[in-house]
Amino acid sequence: MSVIAAVGMQWGDEGKGKVVDILSEFVSAVVRYAGGNNAGHTIKVGDSKVILGLLPSGVMRPGCRCILGGGMVIDPLVFLEEIGKVRALGIKAGPDRIFIARTAFAVLPIHRELDGLFEDHQGAGRIGTTRRGIGPAYQDKVGRRGLRMADIVDRDALAGKVEAIHAFWRPMFERERRSLPPFEETVEALWSLRGDIEPFLADTTAILHDEIRKKSNILLEGAQGTLLDVDHGTYPFVTSSSASIAGALSGTGIGPLSITGVIGILKAYTTRVGEGPFPTEAPPEMPARIRDAGGEYGSMTGRPRRCGWLDLPALTRSVRINSVSSLALTKCDVLTAFSEIPVCVGYEVNGKLSHDFPIAGLDRAVPVYEPWPGWKENISSVRELGDLPANLRRYIQNIELKTELPVTLISVGPARNETIVVKNPFR
Ligand code: GDP
Ligand code: IMO
Ligand code: MG
Repeated sequence: MSVIAAVGMQWGDEGKGKVVDILSEFVSAVVRYAGGNNAGHTIKVGDSKVILGLLPSGVMRPGCRCILGGGMVIDPLVFLEEIGKVRALGIKAGPDRIFIARTAFAVLPIHRELDGLFEDHQGAGRIGTTRRGIGPAYQDKVGRRGLRMADIVDRDALAGKVEAIHAFWRPMFERERRSLPPFEETVEALWSLRGDIEPFLADTTAILHDEIRKKSNILLEGAQGTLLDVDHGTYPFVTSSSASIAGALSGTGIGPLSITGVIGILKAYTTRVGEGPFPTEAPPEMPARIRDAGGEYGSMTGRPRRCGWLDLPALTRSVRINSVSSLALTKCDVLTAFSEIPVCVGYEVNGKLSHDFPIAGLDRAVPVYEPWPGWKENISSVRELGDLPANLRRYIQNIELKTELPVTLISVGPARNETIVVKNPFR
């Protein structure tokens, strides 16, 4: 039995969807543990491509149970749309294999409004959120007035919670001279979904404990990345949930000793969407090249992603925070044809070189780079480690050396089969 968490090491979009889809072949259940449809996880199988905001990336594997964990915030309409999208691809997506934690929180129209309102209000200081209402939904959760998914099917709880949430935020809407989404409409719209949502609601922690008792393999799927984690990221330019391993515990109800491994997923370079510090961001001509080769546009929002070089101090920090046991390296093909690839190996802070990621002083830190020789060969059809160009193998060995971890999965293209599995963690 293995219970393995797949966690993003950077600022999200590392290719978690692809890696989780591949590993789902070997598990009974995949659980999304945090975030909402701020996530966009892309899976490419044959000619089909699906981008998932809420459904776990095991959904394309018919035998795999898919759980939306209690740490998530769920927009009920988006959930139902996604179910439809997956069914349109001929995949069974019924309540016999898809389960929503009763304790997960709902994203309401008022949360989407608030997300836009906060962003517009901040002007130059804005976070660059996805405007999906994620931050405000978590604010209501920790403010102890949130609406849980189970409340949607209880008329009194539904009306009472929506009323409390609207009452709390009303002064802000009045101050900003914006109109609140109508209370009655919100309640009626959610109440009309109860028949569609109720079959999916479950005690997902009990389901997971049952699977653990049966010694099943389980995958815990992270969203976002460690540098966007509310505690460990580049605060305040973060998301509002625990994207790191901490969220895999609180967001599922599985204890730490049940987790047998953590796969850290990273790109061979770095990207970031939205505002906030990004020390290894490259000069303008390089992002254009990477953006074209790697399709670096937000999966959900279509925003061009900021692009830069691999940051080893940041990676090492993420590895430690998450107790990572092995690494999955994606998008190696995108770096093909660069004659030289800079890799950040440290930071100069007040004239001194440090190998730690200076999370609290990024504005004063200057990245120090080591140039790595590139390769010219097209690698998308390579399936054996030994067939990769020697310079890419050295690039990978350097990551292994600096993190003291094995790179056990190497991705050389977006498709499921464009992958080198050096070691399968479930075998
Ligand atoms: P996630 O949020 O971590 O699941 O990642 P996204 O799906 O948002 O972004 C990753 C993008 O890169 C998607 O468009 C994937 O199809 C694509 N992708 C994943 N792995 C590879 C790879 O090895 N090479 C290339 N070229 N694209 C990849
Ligand atoms: P996946 O799971 C990349 C970023 C937003 C913004 C910040 C806060 O696909 O890797 P939010 O809407 O969460 O309040 O926005 O976080 N962000 C992501 N960036 N990938 C994601 O998810 C992200 N989810 C949120 O761009 O900077
Ligand atoms: Mg994404």
